[in-house]
Amino acid sequence: MIFKLLKLNSSLIKCSFKTSRQFSSSVEKLVSDGITNCTHLLDSNDPEVLKTMQNCMIVKENFINEQEENEILAEVNPYMKRLRYEFDHWDNAIHGYRETERLKWIEENQKILNRVKQFAFDAFSAQDNTNLLNHIHILDLHEDGFIKPHVDAVRFCGNTIAGICLLSDAVMKLTSEKDKSKYGLVLLKRRCLYVMRDTMRYDYAHEVLGNSESFFKNVQVPKTRRISIICRNEPDLSAHPEKTN
Ligand code: OGA
Ligand code: MN
Repeated sequence: MIFKLLKLNSSLIKCSFKTSRQFSSSVEKLVSDGITNCTHLLDSNDPEVLKTMQNCMIVKENFINEQEENEILAEVNPYMKRLRYEFDHWDNAIHGYRETERLKWIEENQKILNRVKQFAFDAFSAQDNTNLLNHIHILDLHEDGFIKPHVDAVRFCGNTIAGICLLSDAVMKLTSEKDKSKYGLVLLKRRCLYVMRDTMRYDYAHEVLGNSESFFKNVQVPKTRRISIICRNEPDLSAHPEKTN
C-alpha cells in the first residue's frame, strides 16, 4: 500500500522540523505523560513484548477534540467520497480501503499536524532522523475493512509512524516477526494518536483487526468506518542496508 504510494513520490522534497527550544520541554512532558498514561491501552500474551510496547508504542488518548476531528473530516471527506473502496485484490495488505496523500492543509488542520510533529518526532530529535515525509497519508477503512499484518517498507519510511485515528475505535495487533506466537494488542480509541517506533515498527508486523477479531482484553471493540491520518519520517537507509530491496 504505502509502498506503492511512496514510490510515486520518490522525488519528495526534504523538509526538516527540528525541535525549537521554546517548546521542547513541554513536548518532552507531553511525551512522558503519553508513555506513562497509556499502559491501560496495551495488552500482550508475553511480558517481553509488553515491555517493548511500553517503550516503542505511545498512545495519546484524545489527542484531538471533536471539533478538530470534524475539521479534518471536512477537509478530507469530500475527496475521499469520490474514491471507491478497494476490496477485491487478494494480495493487497489492506482490504476495504481507499486512500490518498495530502501535502497542503487548511491552517487549522496544519496546526494539528504540527502538534503531531512535535509530539511524535521532534521530542526524539536527538536520536532520530526527523525529516518528515511531507505528504501525509490518509487511509479510509470501510466498516468491513481490515489491515493485514505487514511491516511498512523500510525503503520508504523511517523509524517512526504516527497516526491520528478518526471516526472509530479499533484494535491494532503487533506480531513479532521472530516468533509469530508472540503478539501485543493496542486499543486505538477514536481521536487518539499512536506513535509506533523502532523495534515495534521494524521487528513487529502491525495490523488493524476486522470486526470479527476486534477484541481488547476480552471486550469487543466494534469498528465502524475509520480514517487514519498517518505521518512518517524519511527512511534512514544506512541503518537498514539489508532491507532496501
Ligand atoms: C498503513 C497502516 C495503520 C492505520 O497504512 O500502512 O498500517 O492506523 N495503517 O491506519
Ligand atoms: Mn502500516
